[in-house]
Amino acid sequence: MVSGRLMNTVEWTSAGVRLIDQRVLPTEEVYRMCTTYEEVAEAIRTMAVRGAPAIGVAAAFGIALGLRASVAAGEDLATAFEHICQTMAATRPTAVNLFWAIDRMRRRFEQVRAAGVAGNELAQALIDEAQAIHAEDIATCRQIGRYGAELVPDGATVLTHCNAGALATAGYGTALGIIRAAVEQGKRITVYADETRPFLQGARLTAWELLRDRIPVTLICDSMAGHFMKLGRITCVVVGADRIAANGDTANKIGTYMVAALAHRHRIPFYVAAPTSTLDLTLETGDGIPIEDRAPQEVTYIGPRRIAPPEVSVANPAFDVTPHELITAIITERGIAYPPFTATLRRLAADA
Ligand code: MRU
Repeated sequence: MVSGRLMNTVEWTSAGVRLIDQRVLPTEEVYRMCTTYEEVAEAIRTMAVRGAPAIGVAAAFGIALGLRASVAAGEDLATAFEHICQTMAATRPTAVNLFWAIDRMRRRFEQVRAAGVAGNELAQALIDEAQAIHAEDIATCRQIGRYGAELVPDGATVLTHCNAGALATAGYGTALGIIRAAVEQGKRITVYADETRPFLQGARLTAWELLRDRIPVTLICDSMAGHFMKLGRITCVVVGADRIAANGDTANKIGTYMVAALAHRHRIPFYVAAPTSTLDLTLETGDGIPIEDRAPQEVTYIGPRRIAPPEVSVANPAFDVTPHELITAIITERGIAYPPFTATLRRLAADA
């Protein structure tokens, strides 16, 4: 982290899962304590915590919290554990990191029980596993940063979409981790941040965390990206990902596809930064990625203010899929994958 302070996006405490409420940033910096797994699930669903790796970490902590309560209440643990996992899985459909983290907690639960461990010791093993997922995410993001920084030249202006920063992870960021790493290497980097309608992750979150790290950032409306590319102001685009299919097709925040198409038109490198936990090699192409639809009010309101007629029909897909042909490289903690992605991603995934 450039400022010397790692962001506490989501953390385990003995009282529960503490997270920064991203719905009220940047006007308020409020930390919420979730004391039940249902509260953690609700925080994910309502996007108090958001960003693919961060919701994976939050879900793991939520599962640990739920299991600890079930042990204390003397419940049937196999039934209770499965119910907790299903509650977490029903929160948001697109980011595969959520399901990756749930599967990892399930595997640990089964492994520890098979070893004859029960009660508080079993609950502690699950807390330890969630803590490990949290710590690994920070190390993973730093490694993505190190690899990705090599692709960003001194003096670059980097365009990013949405927030793939400390707030979207356990505390360093994927796309913004690359920018942080480049700055830590002494490079002079400027960022153009798309505001990212309708949830405004770029305006509210990316701008806030980059300013906090004193990294120069210029906020633009999503519709301005092509204009600045045409003027030659953008060196490269770096974005995060929610799910990457075997052929490299990448789901990320709605509007990413538009940015990628524009970058291609202007021959600007378009980089995706993501941990290998974002790979979903069970899907051959991006066509199979489930796209979350969110409430129309996210589009018809800005804050408390309605900006559209109440009777208007609204579409609000939260993600789109960028076809692999538009992606220059995918930067992971295990290295950089170049096309053809079907071969390079499979190799990286096998490198565990
Ligand atoms: O709906 P969100 O805010 O959870 O969407 C977040 C994104 O699309 C991010 O770019 C992605 O999760 C990568 S975060 C490192």
